[in-house]
Amino acid sequence: MTIAQLAPAIGGLRLSLHVLAATVWVGGQLTVAGLLPTVRRLGEDGARRIARAFARISWPAYAVLLATGIWNVTAVSSGQPTSWQILLGVKISVVVVAGLAAWLHGRAKSPTWLGVWGAAAGLASVTALVMGVFLAG
Ligand code: HEM
Repeated sequence: MTIAQLAPAIGGLRLSLHVLAATVWVGGQLTVAGLLPTVRRLGEDGARRIARAFARISWPAYAVLLATGIWNVTAVSSGQPTSWQILLGVKISVVVVAGLAAWLHGRAKSPTWLGVWGAAAGLASVTALVMGVFLAG
């Protein structure tokens, strides 16, 4: 079997890893947000403990997104139109905003800033996901 014959399988593995990490990073944020009212009723520090546990899962997923994102670019960017390249640039900026907002969310002390940075991280993450779907075409 030649490398050329293996290309579709390698491409499938690359995209599957990228999408799997996106389900954890994006879907995890939405799911944890949805569970929060119930988690708060479990005890005073319930929300904080769940947030810490989620961070141990979500940051590795973010790292996988960055690594497989770079892999995606090396695999599919050549010969793409300018509009695709621009969308990619905007997406990478949105990904940075999502990571920064999630990091600030993890360090916020007041409920207001917890909400602001949490919402910003979720919104930017969903935006990056939608942009990724458009990039994949
Ligand atoms: C929050 C982080 C990210 C999320 C949620 C995300 C999500 C996605 C999704 C859902 C797809 C579509 C897969 C499909 O429809 O089959 C995709 C594709 C893509 N992503 Fe990301 N992504 C992220 C980060 C990145 C980064 C950092 C880069 C570049 C360094 C990147 C580059 C790409 C490229 C080039 C594609 C198209 C791949 C192809 O056509 O084979 N992504 N992304």
